Amino acid sequence: MNRRLITSALPYVNNIPHLGNLLQVLSADVFARFCRSKGYDTMYICGTDEYGTATETRALQEGKSPRELCDYYHAIHKDIYQWFDISFDNFGRTSTEQQTEIVQSLFKMLDERGFITEKTSTQLYCPKCERFLADRFVSGTCPSCGYEDARGDQCEHCGKLLDPTELQNPRCSTCGTTPEPKETKHLYINLPAIQAEYGPWMEDTAEKGQWSKNSVQMTQAWIRDGLQERAITRDLKWGIPVPKEGYENKVFYVWFDAPIGYISITKELTDKLNNPDIDWKAWWLPSESNASNAKNPVDLFQFIGKDNIPFHTVIFPSTLIGSGKDWTKLYHMSSTEYLNYESGKFSKSKGIGVFGSDAKESGIPADAWRFYEFYNRPEKSDTQFTWKDFQEKVNSELIGNLGNLVNRTLTFVSRYYDGVIPEGKIDEALWAEI
Ligand code: 2FM
Ligand code: ZN
Repeated sequence: MNRRLITSALPYVNNIPHLGNLLQVLSADVFARFCRSKGYDTMYICGTDEYGTATETRALQEGKSPRELCDYYHAIHKDIYQWFDISFDNFGRTSTEQQTEIVQSLFKMLDERGFITEKTSTQLYCPKCERFLADRFVSGTCPSCGYEDARGDQCEHCGKLLDPTELQNPRCSTCGTTPEPKETKHLYINLPAIQAEYGPWMEDTAEKGQWSKNSVQMTQAWIRDGLQERAITRDLKWGIPVPKEGYENKVFYVWFDAPIGYISITKELTDKLNNPDIDWKAWWLPSESNASNAKNPVDLFQFIGKDNIPFHTVIFPSTLIGSGKDWTKLYHMSSTEYLNYESGKFSKSKGIGVFGSDAKESGIPADAWRFYEFYNRPEKSDTQFTWKDFQEKVNSELIGNLGNLVNRTLTFVSRYYDGVIPEGKIDEALWAEI
């Protein structure tokens, strides 16, 4: 049997996780439990996504260093997912030595194979804070939907990926100053040059691996528009150093390193186990592993929300393909629509929604939350979490139907058969009807 490598999107470490984050983690958990119960050799990996401006801006607000902030919230994430009974094989983090090592080595492979280019561009600079305003350090009006509080990297309202210079009426998220344009140089991954190899891989895998419809549509739209070169470095401090001359004061863009976190978190686990037969390469680079399970093929199943699609279906696989090595790449993509809260969107930054800590303190058991989140999973369109529906579904479906069926069956078996189901004959007519 093929082995099954399962990942759920690495939640940003900058806040307490909410039910929207839990959705991905729970989806992958249900699938991992199913795979283990069927006897598949299974590995379920997740962890916190710790670099980039999401962390830096939050650390400034909380008066902590980025490292202190990550340590603080990583522990909270871990604790909450444990309470929800999520069966990770490892819940790690991206700010580790293993991550730096693998990200830098992948970058060098891409660079050696000619897939990294350098460009000078004009970016937004805050004269008051004396820094370039990357990603979340700048906000403004979304050029696509007009939402006035869009972040420099992505509009939270319509999901469009943005470059900070595209924002209308930009302002520094820290001090509110209107930024000035200033020149800086960055490294780009040359996706158009990888497209010839990436395109056929995508078409083939999306069909074979039965990707969710939204991910196929979005990925095909990216391909149809022609892939663009994408900047993979930033003028920031909190990130992975770029091993190239002239880039000493820059770091990798968080979305370049984050998906590589799935690999490094696996390595962190196998380093910890220190057993030569349990090897991270057996999962991610099987042709370079001597572990006994490395000869069985691996299928990678990834669980994410729709705003993460192109990073997982285009950029991460292209990074792996461009390196020239035979990495395990996406097989099945499970990308949900949004789970909304009452009538709005869950938002960590705005404190809207039900957070893991609220769920834990509610007195409602984790299994009831797990049931309702899964029952209400936004598979084909957005769904809504409402307290009223939660109450109704738990009472009518979980307790009334499923709970009653199990309870009556067990009571019956206990009362009439001393707790042991006897051999019996199946009524063929009834079975056929079932
Ligand atoms: O949207 C998010 O919460 C991101 N931190 C997801 C990252 S997924 C992976 F690539 F690490
Ligand atoms: Zn928008």
